[in-house]
Amino acid sequence: MTINAIQNLLTAACAPYQQAGRFAWHFAQGKLGRDPVFKGMLARNLLPHRDGGIRVLDIGCGQGLLSSWLLSAQAQHAKGEWPANWPAPPAIAHVHGIELMPRDVDRARAALHKDSTRATFEVGNMCTANFPPSDAVVILDVLHYVDFPAQDDVLRRVHACLTDDGVLLLRVGDAAGGLPFKISNWVDNVVTSIRGHKTLPTFCRSIADWQRDITALGFSVQAMPMHEGTPFANILLVCHKAKT
Ligand SMILES: C[S@@+](CC[C@H](N)C(=O)[O-])C[C@H]1O[C@@H](n2cnc3c(N)ncnc32)[C@H](O)[C@@H]1O
Repeated sequence: MTINAIQNLLTAACAPYQQAGRFAWHFAQGKLGRDPVFKGMLARNLLPHRDGGIRVLDIGCGQGLLSSWLLSAQAQHAKGEWPANWPAPPAIAHVHGIELMPRDVDRARAALHKDSTRATFEVGNMCTANFPPSDAVVILDVLHYVDFPAQDDVLRRVHACLTDDGVLLLRVGDAAGGLPFKISNWVDNVVTSIRGHKTLPTFCRSIADWQRDITALGFSVQAMPMHEGTPFANILLVCHKAKT
């Protein structure tokens, strides 16, 4: 039952990408199927729950996979098709994605056009875009593309846009992670090239440095390995606004 329910969720979250072309559909299947972060955030109940639904901001959203995943989770749960050992998913009021690459935003919009009031996407640079008020901000494998002062500025603005009990889910590579970290970087470069983008220098920190620096910005931080089944050194930092 649990395996079937997870497979059905995956099928439902990938299906909209058939309308965005073969590449988008295959990419959705590979990424949502193999990257443990999508199942992990639901199985471990990492997003907040609110009456009326939560507002999620997805920074560096790519083709909008997180939006499709969360909207499909809510729909599958409502149909009673839900893994028996997972908590109920959060209701989604709105998911907004910010993405640098217009081609990815086109794919996201093409896939999710039927839910265009709840899933919106903009072409934008996280270093300059406005962040709307949010209950959860998700940044998966994106911050390392900009230098350290720019990363800190993004995180300061994320802190400001989050509600008091909001959460930031930030996935990063652990620069102290040895060979798995080197493999992550190599794969990142290959995928960036396959997607038709130029590869540029990246800016990474060890998890200890991330925890110190994010705590200084006013978050409490818990680090969770989020690379199960992959050869990478990816860590999910679950960051809550620290009570003042
Ligand atoms: C490795 S992909 C991850 C995509 C998505 N977060 C996911 O997990 O499926 C990184 C994404 O960040 C985007 N990106 C890089 N720099 C950005 C910036 N300055 N502002 C917004 N998006 C950016 C890239 O174009 C790419 O789509």
